[in-house]
Amino acid sequence: MLVESCPQQTLQHVTAARQRGLLTGCVPTMGALHQGHVSLMQRARSECGYVTATIFVNPTQFGPQEDFSKYPRTLQSDLQLCEQAGVDLVFTPQTDQMYAADAETVVQVGRLTTLLEGAHRPGHFDGVTTVVAKLLMITQPQKAYFGQKDYQQQLVVRRMVRDLNIPVEIVTCPIIRESDGLAMSSRNRYLTAEERQTATALSGALRLAERLCSQSGAVPSVVEQQMQQMLLQTPGLVLQYAVLADPETLQPLPERVPSGTSCVALIAARVGTTRLIDNLLLVFG
Ligand code: PAF
Repeated sequence: MLVESCPQQTLQHVTAARQRGLLTGCVPTMGALHQGHVSLMQRARSECGYVTATIFVNPTQFGPQEDFSKYPRTLQSDLQLCEQAGVDLVFTPQTDQMYAADAETVVQVGRLTTLLEGAHRPGHFDGVTTVVAKLLMITQPQKAYFGQKDYQQQLVVRRMVRDLNIPVEIVTCPIIRESDGLAMSSRNRYLTAEERQTATALSGALRLAERLCSQSGAVPSVVEQQMQQMLLQTPGLVLQYAVLADPETLQPLPERVPSGTSCVALIAARVGTTRLIDNLLLVFG
């Protein structure tokens, strides 16, 4: 496995692989890798002839009050996981190799980035789309792999790729959960034992929403209220949002929906100082 910090060298390696006729895949990450990331790398390995993983804690997607400086940096164990997953090349640049001191170009997707995560984390998605556009340019993948865990992120990246005609297929991979339902996340390692227990309320509320939605005649606003009530009653948890939304546009659902309607349930909450998100795709009964 090659490890590169230089964008130009990385581009050369990938270009050589493409010239050898290999299908190229990329798994963009910020490191602190867990089994969720491993599942993305394994999927890329099974579908592509040349797999690049990127490890870069991107400063531009963190707000001033967010956890950029304390974000876990675990490069040695990350590299081991990449190697075990069969990654060919790890691109792990320094910040000044990604951003010139006088860089002034931002890739901005519109309305989709103003809702939910975008409303709670102003500017976050501009940082994500700008760095993802750059990573796609440097690693030249024909397929790029993102986790459903960041549901809005993968929608925003899909929209950017479509709107800018970037020649890459975005593959969204399922959420990997701990045995008690907690969605795997690099930020879970911030949680104390007690907070870790509290955090299971997010997946619990999603399962409640799933049960309620599957009943015939379920009403979206009632399901939302039940999810919110459950989370608001959880000691140690501060709810930011718990909503049902259209899975493509993230717009709220109408008051009544026909049986068979798909939606996504999305939750964000703080447990202690840790901000957690989770989601589940649902179908109305
Ligand atoms: O999901 C992440 O880890 C990051 O947002 C990404 C896509 C690697 C961009 O920095």
